[in-house]
Amino acid sequence: MGEGSEADSARQQEVEAVEVRLLLEGIRSLYGYDFRDYAPASLGRRLRKILEEEGLPSLSRLLEMILHDPAQMGRFLIALAVPTTAMFRDPGFFLALRQKAVPLLKDLPFFRVWHAGCSTGEEVYSLAILLEEEGLLPKARRYATDLSQEVIDKAKEGIFAAKAMQAYTNNYARSGGHGSFSHYYTAKHDLAIMRPDLAREVVWATHNLVSDGSFNEFNLILCRNVMIYFNPKLQERVHHLLYDSLAMGGVLGLGRGESLLGSPHADCYRALDVSEKIFVKVK
Ligand SMILES: C[S@@+](CC[C@H](N)C(=O)[O-])C[C@H]1O[C@@H](n2cnc3c(N)ncnc32)[C@H](O)[C@@H]1O
Repeated sequence: MGEGSEADSARQQEVEAVEVRLLLEGIRSLYGYDFRDYAPASLGRRLRKILEEEGLPSLSRLLEMILHDPAQMGRFLIALAVPTTAMFRDPGFFLALRQKAVPLLKDLPFFRVWHAGCSTGEEVYSLAILLEEEGLLPKARRYATDLSQEVIDKAKEGIFAAKAMQAYTNNYARSGGHGSFSHYYTAKHDLAIMRPDLAREVVWATHNLVSDGSFNEFNLILCRNVMIYFNPKLQERVHHLLYDSLAMGGVLGLGRGESLLGSPHADCYRALDVSEKIFVKVK
């Protein structure tokens, strides 16, 4: 590369960095969503993908669209916040939950569960099935929250693609499922409609882990595959919030790529399953 093109590329990077800052500031000022403390590398990848898919020449153009059309914000919010999920995602996690966390919940007269970053609800239905099979569903008061209203609306419907059911059936079996997975949904054309009683009592709400506070005390919190998208400063904030929201003896389940490193309360937990990232609050 010649000197001229090196200078061009450095300038291009500088322009992009300014555009990212302006975009995130614009989204924050107008819509209140603060992505400034999301991990920059993965955020950059998602932004580049949006530009490519929309055929847009620059982030400045994307900012213009988002500022002038609120409907676009809803759409991009989902892409920025990463809704990827699955039923019984990481079956070993649900197996460990069944074997090691259920005994801790069994003796409570009732218990509260928080799904923080529940996306389109697959995790909520998975846990509902597990709790039902362990005879604990009637004792569970469940709260499922996410940044995005769009994904919550989808989660509430409890309707998923039928073509995903084969993979979910395998996950369910590997997670220690006792029965037949098809018992929990009705197939209609290319859709699978989950049994409504699995989510009837769930409180669905928007909650932003960047800016909102604790809203109850929980005996089980699943915050999986959410903090992985945050920078260390924001991870610390969320860990603080999760710690504050957990009852003593309460169980915290994180994602495969997540950990208590960076938690100001790491020494207040005992590992229930190290590899599946399941911890109990002990002080
Ligand atoms: C990759 S999905 C994980 C879903 C599910 N927990 C799982 O493990 O399959 C991440 C979810 O976190 C949500 N999320 C991202 N940032 C958030 C924030 N600041 N507050 C609350 N939820 C957030 C996204 O909208 C998305 O639905």
